[in-house]
Amino acid sequence: MCEILSNLWRWLCLMPKNETPTSDDDDPNYKTFPHVKKQIESDSIDISDHHVEPISFSSGSTNTEDNIHTSTSHIVVDLSSGCAEDAKTTNAKGKEQPVIDIDCGYQELIPEVVFEEIVTPLISVRRIGPYTSAQRILLVGEGDFSFSASLAVAFGASAANITATSLNTKKYLIKNYGQFFTNKAELETRCSTVLHGVDVTKMLRHPVLGSMVFDRIIFNFPHALNCVATYTKPLPHQKLIREFLLNAKEMIGEGGEIHITSKSNGVYLEWDIPKIGSVIGIKLIQQVKFKRSKYPGYSPKYACDDEDFDCNPSKTYKFGKVTLFR
Ligand SMILES: C[S@@+](CC[C@H](N)C(=O)[O-])C[C@H]1O[C@@H](n2cnc3c(N)ncnc32)[C@H](O)[C@@H]1O
Repeated sequence: MCEILSNLWRWLCLMPKNETPTSDDDDPNYKTFPHVKKQIESDSIDISDHHVEPISFSSGSTNTEDNIHTSTSHIVVDLSSGCAEDAKTTNAKGKEQPVIDIDCGYQELIPEVVFEEIVTPLISVRRIGPYTSAQRILLVGEGDFSFSASLAVAFGASAANITATSLNTKKYLIKNYGQFFTNKAELETRCSTVLHGVDVTKMLRHPVLGSMVFDRIIFNFPHALNCVATYTKPLPHQKLIREFLLNAKEMIGEGGEIHITSKSNGVYLEWDIPKIGSVIGIKLIQQVKFKRSKYPGYSPKYACDDEDFDCNPSKTYKFGKVTLFR
């Protein structure tokens, strides 16, 4: 219907304003729309309605004539506004009828809302001791990898954030530690990364690790020990720890921490690990008692043999970057 109205409107606009046709003979368009002249004078047109369903306006009325007239209803469209809202119906007697809601033809564009189903796998964060599966964790100076494996087992399927490393070669570890293969398998089946030949004093330049950023870097029981001699003096151990911290502090991200666990009795206290940190400008966040029992399967190892050592008492020193502004 609106198409008809729109064509009609266009046609009316094309007509010269002061040349209203006067008869059917001198205006060919007039012949096409014989009723137009009359309607223009009243600024409205009357066209047969092909869409409006017959409506009985005399509700409850039994007057059949009324009903018949309604079924031949016309729509009067106000040409000054052009369309629907001003439409009125008249019955065959020319009696004005209440406004009928007419589809005026323009389509309201309703934006199609497409709900994309975003499937987020529900991977829960697992925790063991102060460590979580959400943290990017680097373990260095591993012996038989039992500590790394303990973390990986606790994290279940989400242990991909673990990077476990040793100074010693794989060949050496196979020969030296009975459980190494099993621990390595626990890590690798959970998508953890295992690397060998990683020297903590140079790890910043390591081809893989050098470009990585971690939330936690862990060195359990650092010991500068070459299997031929055991250093009883603190200096070689202090040097190892100092160089480790210098590298590690460049590899932690925002809020990252470096954890060193060491014996907290006897000669070990002479190492004065908190002081090493403060000398190189790294902040000691916390020192806490280390409990081996928190880590099922963990066997603290000497560098040169498969014997567990007694790691009680010991402490974990937690360092973080010094932040100037908060
Ligand atoms: C007492 S063992 C502890 C092993 C293991 N972290 C544990 O808790 O069972 C000391 C470890 O420090 C490692 N280590 C010594 N110097 C190192 C270095 N420069 N870079 C990496 N690891 C080193 C040795 O290979 C050895 O595995």
